[in-house]
Amino acid sequence: MSASITLPEHPAATRIAGLGHFRPERVVTNDELAKTIDTNDEWIRTRVGIAERHFAAESDTVASMGAAAGRLAIADAGLTSADIDLVIVATCTLPTPIPHAATKVASLLDIQAPGAFDINAACAGFCYGLSTASALIRAGEARNVLLVGSEKLTDWIDPADRANAIIFADGAAAVVVTGAETAEIGPVAWGCAIDHTETIYIKDRESFIYQEGQTVFRWATSAIAPVAIEAARRAGVELSDIDVFASHQANLRIVESIAKKLIAAGASPDITIAKDIVTTGNTSSASIPIALDRMRQAGEVRSGDLVLAVGFGAGLTFGSQVFRCP
Ligand SMILES: CC(C)(COP(=O)(O)OP(=O)(O)OC[C@H]1O[C@@H](n2cnc3c(N)ncnc32)[C@H](O)[C@@H]1OP(=O)(O)O)[C@@H](O)C(=O)NCCC(=O)NCCS
Repeated sequence: MSASITLPEHPAATRIAGLGHFRPERVVTNDELAKTIDTNDEWIRTRVGIAERHFAAESDTVASMGAAAGRLAIADAGLTSADIDLVIVATCTLPTPIPHAATKVASLLDIQAPGAFDINAACAGFCYGLSTASALIRAGEARNVLLVGSEKLTDWIDPADRANAIIFADGAAAVVVTGAETAEIGPVAWGCAIDHTETIYIKDRESFIYQEGQTVFRWATSAIAPVAIEAARRAGVELSDIDVFASHQANLRIVESIAKKLIAAGASPDITIAKDIVTTGNTSSASIPIALDRMRQAGEVRSGDLVLAVGFGAGLTFGSQVFRCP
């Protein structure tokens, strides 16, 4: 009766220690899609902003792509598999619900007996996962978390559906989240639109992704900028302090509309805006970290830059936070 439960020691704060990404080899241009569906390069570039995207090979899976990205993120953090004690995979495109992807990623990377689970917050998955990883470390429940966003959307797209086949693509990215003395990952601003549960869906296991494109477009261009502004407020930073705006890469027009609202609300007109959708397409939970890593590799983003990330998608679900780029 008198025994008291002891809680673990825990760090005061968290940071992203490493980042990596994987894009499948096969590049699919708009012209290639136009050979089989009634569309064209000009329409896709104008309405969606995509020039080309990557499609997975049959042998690429959510787990294999996630592991490839995870390997790079662990090395980028200067750690090894032995240091990772929790693997979280954000995904909404597993071909079967069990086993989940995190144990497979752990197995492929030889991470021995970590905690392992998946989360599905669709295109908001990276921001939800980052918040979960950060909170678990700050609670002392994990030390070094491998967070992966990995999607094989082509498994769930009707190649003849010209509204969706042009948008979605495949890929993965990962970060290693670890403890820190001062905060480099801010609090999350998250939520969902309960009046929009049927706006993007897959009806059953025989079906493909369906979305009400114009409803999603209107919602994203009106509801999401305030979420990002709230994330900056919760982190105690001014919008003018933000170096990089890393939105979910849903549609270039959506990204530019949100960025415009952030600039009108005080962000610098010179803020670096992730526009990776142009050559990567919409990779759902992987899109934010893929964009960030590619911008870092291109020298457009530097280690230590203050990033404002916002993810949004099916649910409809949204999440946003401020963090420093590793
Ligand atoms: C899907 C989306 C690109 C469609 O663009 P849109 O401008 O809303 O297009 P509409 O569905 O109203 O169709 C407009 C016209 O273009 C045509 N069209 C649709 N897709 C086309 C394509 N790939 N190529 C050429 N024409 C196309 C339509 O048939 C329609 O023709 P009509 O006027 O002769 O009937 C757009 O709604 C969108 O990007 N929405 C957001 C989706 C998104 O980001 N989802 C991810 C959330 S995570």
